[in-house]
Amino acid sequence: MNTSGLIIKTSDLWKKYNIDEDGFALRGVNLEVKSGEILAIFGKSGSGKTTLLNLIAGLDKPTKGKIEIDGNDIEAIGERGRTELRRKKIGFVFQFFNLLPTLTALENVLFSLELIGNPDVKLALDALSSVGLSNKENRYPFELSGGEQQRVAIARAIVKKPSIILADEPTGNLDTATGEQVLNLLVSQCIQSGATLIMVSHAMNTCSFATRIINMVDGLLVEDRSSGDCGL
Ligand SMILES: Nc1ncnc2c1ncn2[C@@H]1O[C@H](COP(=O)(O)OP(=O)(O)OP(=O)(O)O)[C@@H](O)[C@H]1O
Ligand SMILES: [Mg+2]
Repeated sequence: MNTSGLIIKTSDLWKKYNIDEDGFALRGVNLEVKSGEILAIFGKSGSGKTTLLNLIAGLDKPTKGKIEIDGNDIEAIGERGRTELRRKKIGFVFQFFNLLPTLTALENVLFSLELIGNPDVKLALDALSSVGLSNKENRYPFELSGGEQQRVAIARAIVKKPSIILADEPTGNLDTATGEQVLNLLVSQCIQSGATLIMVSHAMNTCSFATRIINMVDGLLVEDRSSGDCGL
């Protein structure tokens, strides 16, 4: 049992992609995230935000350094352990929604539950209802607006009640007003379920929703401050 209250800890995380001649995408990232935090990381394109999220999710490996989720070193738990971790503990929301195009909204949400062996239709319908889509559950992604697709993606992430939600540019593909609504929804769903949220963005629009804001520059986290000081 992890008693430190930290749900995510990265220690001296470095990442160099094989084909990348010009150096490191991450250059010694130390990050500690407490359970229940709503963290916004922003930084310019290419600063390493997606790389960091992928490493935290165990989708890619660091060149050097350690990542602990709930006190467990994710290298030590092996590929099978990491898959389990992603299925049960981590929900994703991506920039381009990443819904399965041949499945309806309901089936997309249900799929996430099937992966953990609990294809409960009522849970999936409740999740869609909580993002305001109870009347559109049988639509395919192409029959939904961008904001609605992103809301399905949020329902899909929250339905399995993960302890961590990682959101990579969750509003990057939406107009400002829709983006605000989606962010509001994402944050309120995380608060309601007690999930820890890390959202990354190249713009600062996510920061008013965060309890903590970190700026990323050239593979390093350079500023760490409380919300309320967005600099806008
Ligand atoms: N699969 C990859 N192979 C090689 N280099 C990569 C790969 N993915 C990212 N990089 C490089 O790593 C650096 C960080 O990229 P990353 O995608 O993490 O940035 P980002 O902050 O998410 O940018 P954006 O805001 O544009 O999404 C960049 O220099 C990028 O070119
Ligand atoms: Mg990115």
